[in-house]
Amino acid sequence: MNTGASRIEINEVGPRDGLQIEKAFVPTEEKIALVDALSDCGFARIEVTSFTSPRAIPALADAQEVMRGIRRRPDVIYTALVPNVRGLERAVEAGTQEINLVMSSSETHNRANLRMTRAQSLEELTNILRAAQGTSTPCNVSLSTAFGCPFDGDVSAEEVLRLAHELVNAGAAGITLCDTTGMAYPTQVAALCERTLREFPGLPITIHLHNTRGMALANAIAAWQTGVIRFDAAVGGLGGCPFAPGASGNVNTEELVHMFECMGVTTGVTLDPLMNVVRGLPQLVQREFSTPLLAAGHRLATHQPPAWLAEKFGA
Ligand code: COA
Ligand code: ZN
Repeated sequence: MNTGASRIEINEVGPRDGLQIEKAFVPTEEKIALVDALSDCGFARIEVTSFTSPRAIPALADAQEVMRGIRRRPDVIYTALVPNVRGLERAVEAGTQEINLVMSSSETHNRANLRMTRAQSLEELTNILRAAQGTSTPCNVSLSTAFGCPFDGDVSAEEVLRLAHELVNAGAAGITLCDTTGMAYPTQVAALCERTLREFPGLPITIHLHNTRGMALANAIAAWQTGVIRFDAAVGGLGGCPFAPGASGNVNTEELVHMFECMGVTTGVTLDPLMNVVRGLPQLVQREFSTPLLAAGHRLATHQPPAWLAEKFGA
């Protein structure tokens, strides 16, 4: 098997991508407590919230309060998603350390999600990137629907790379390739990651996967094998874009950590405190959902053999 790097970085996006689609509004103090608990798990980055229109994403209308209220560890970078200039101003004012700008690779998803054409988004983001050059806040750009669009179907690698080049030329500090509705498959992920790494040597490339069709962990391995070391993931597998039909959970952080740690790849994340966060999620989002790793435990969490074995075979 081709192996990738022996150390990867995880960007926990549950507080943003996870909570943005939840029906029950999570009270501000509980959002802050969630981020604080995640801060002690060893993530490189935590995407705390998004500075979007409260009408578009009511679940995250308290972005400023959350960003201002969290306890900050010096070894964690606290980021937020931003769609426009107004969002940038709010994010910087609240002390966001790194900005994650967003636009879609496909035309129809950009219109549905951001109410702009891609050309308008590109202009908006280009202005933000130019303005941010020389400030101390790096701006990464997330390209949604990079592996397929729920409205337009397949998205070509050329289109994704064209947008990436424009944004990097305008000053993007990194690019995230997002599989917004879990349309990516492993060979496609490998091909686009390889091309992106080759065309942007030295630029931080992140992969953002959703498990809508059960391929997220396979896609993570495919990306890792090409040399990608930065992974977005959401605790409990929460997440999804409210403006993409059929969108569902991100790649599950605890499963990603468990898998890579089994393979001897360092993630920086400690599973025990993370599983404590997972335990609290149904209460937090006011619904039951399946958390297979919590049910099964670590692969080496072995069980007592049945008592009759000792009688039949001896101690
Ligand atoms: N933060 C807070 N309020 C904002 C805002 C921001 N970043 N951007 C716009 N608004 C407000 C405006 O002030 C205006 O308020 P008003 O009606 O009280 O005057 C209202 O939102 C509409 O503004 P407008 O510029 O016309 O935006 P829009 O309605 O065309 O929406 C976006 C454009 C980008 C702001 C909106 O679609 C959005 O926030 N999308 C986010 C989508 C998202 O996060 N998806 C999931 C992640 S991929
Ligand atoms: Zn997502």
